[in-house]
Amino acid sequence: MEEVAVIIVGAGPSGIATSACLNRLEIPNIVLEREGCCGSLWKKRAYDRLKLHIPKQYCELPYMSYPSNAPTFVPRNGFIAYLDEYLSHFGVTPRFNRSVGLAFYDVDAGKWRLEVTNVCSHVKEVYVAQFLVVATGENAEGVIPDIPGLGGFAGEYMHASQFSNGREYRGKDVLVVGCGNSGMEISYDLCQSNARTSIVNRSPVHVVTKEMVSLAMILLKFLSVTSVDTILAKLCKLRFDDLSEYGIQRPEEGPFYLKKTQGRSPTIDVGCVDRIKEGKIKVFPSMANIQGKKIEFTNGESNQFDVIIFATGYRSTVGRWLKGGEELFDDNGFPKQDLVNKWKGSNGLYCVGFARNGLLAISSDAKNVSQDISTLILNCQNC
Ligand SMILES: Cc1cc2nc3c(=O)[nH]c(=O)nc-3n(C[C@H](O)[C@H](O)[C@H](O)COP(=O)(O)OP(=O)(O)OC[C@H]3O[C@@H](n4cnc5c(N)ncnc54)[C@H](O)[C@@H]3O)c2cc1C
Ligand SMILES: *[C@@H]1O[C@H](CO)[C@@H](O)[C@H](O)[C@H]1NC(C)=O
Ligand SMILES: *[C@@H]1O[C@H](CO)[C@@H](O)[C@H](O)[C@H]1NC(C)=O
Repeated sequence: MEEVAVIIVGAGPSGIATSACLNRLEIPNIVLEREGCCGSLWKKRAYDRLKLHIPKQYCELPYMSYPSNAPTFVPRNGFIAYLDEYLSHFGVTPRFNRSVGLAFYDVDAGKWRLEVTNVCSHVKEVYVAQFLVVATGENAEGVIPDIPGLGGFAGEYMHASQFSNGREYRGKDVLVVGCGNSGMEISYDLCQSNARTSIVNRSPVHVVTKEMVSLAMILLKFLSVTSVDTILAKLCKLRFDDLSEYGIQRPEEGPFYLKKTQGRSPTIDVGCVDRIKEGKIKVFPSMANIQGKKIEFTNGESNQFDVIIFATGYRSTVGRWLKGGEELFDDNGFPKQDLVNKWKGSNGLYCVGFARNGLLAISSDAKNVSQDISTLILNCQNC
């Protein structure tokens, strides 16, 4: 058994940013990570052509900028290099291959107790801490919807987090499910690699360009969300025109209103829309059922596919291993919406990286959480 002031679960951007902030405040902490590396989402579960969707100045972790020669939209490898550099600069040393199976607040001891498995040696370990920071992410596990017949699909299917490059699918009939950032970008990659590509669009979606997002980030400093959404609607009309005839409808509410109220991000087009307009990528509505390789859609059309890639989102898995965090986390493993500080529970429980606002929010969460812990420790020393 090992005891420390703070345990952080997860060594993604959230966990390492929090550890760095605590190290600067000289507060002892241990980071536990189930994978064998930091930033596993970026190193092991992201496609090759992924870049940061928003300009680099909005994607910094606390106290370290990107190199001045880094491109405005940092590619995946540049972001991985930044994470590795961040770790060594702030002396963050996660314990890898440690999967947290259970964490609960031990009322008698007044401390958090964690039961951890070393996934290599299968040795069980116990950690005890005054403070527990949950940093396991909004994307802990890929979601694949339940479609009649999927189990018997005669081709290959996977979640978008398992897709790395379109090259492997040249000449194949591939169906990508979902029109979010991953779905649209993977479809584009497949199409460019000469796979026969189709995409399923299940619900209305805002498609924008990264230039529009950059502009909106600046405008939002001066204008209301409604005004910015109105400007974006005009720009979208100019750039894309009406996409409904291609099977892509826009939601009633504006993109930044939806981001603010529901955490739903607009899709940033990387070239997929033009391929759809050229007829090179075909858009289908929801899938109705699967038989062998044949997929039938809700509009009655059907087609044969070799591969299905589900870009259908992710879920938090906090509820599976954390017991006693009910007043911070809801049933979906996200912080409850009515909390003032969406990063603070009781008995020294915190979370970083669940604000549905990417790296920008991760950075402010990590600073706020470490500052709060520091204040509590100092007050306690004085009392
Ligand atoms: C494809 C994709 C593209 C994105 N692009 C952007 C972008 O351009 N800009 C932006 O700001 N955001 C982007 N995001 C959002 C992204 O979630 C964040 O950038 C960031 O990676 C989240 O960091 P995190 O540390 O909170 O979570 P993660 O990076 O998911 O890290 C969580 C870590 O916790 C570990 N873990 C989980 N459960 C356990 C357990 N029980 N025990 C031990 N360890 C555990 C996981 O292995 C993982 O390493 C993107 C997300 C995806 C999926
Ligand atoms: C983590 O596990 C992998 C696979 O078992 C192993 O190759 C790697 O060396 C381990 N890493 C550490 C830091 O123990
Ligand atoms: C957290 O920190 C940011 C700045 O880093 C600040 O704007 C915000 O108000 C703080 N508080 C909360 C509750 O998030």
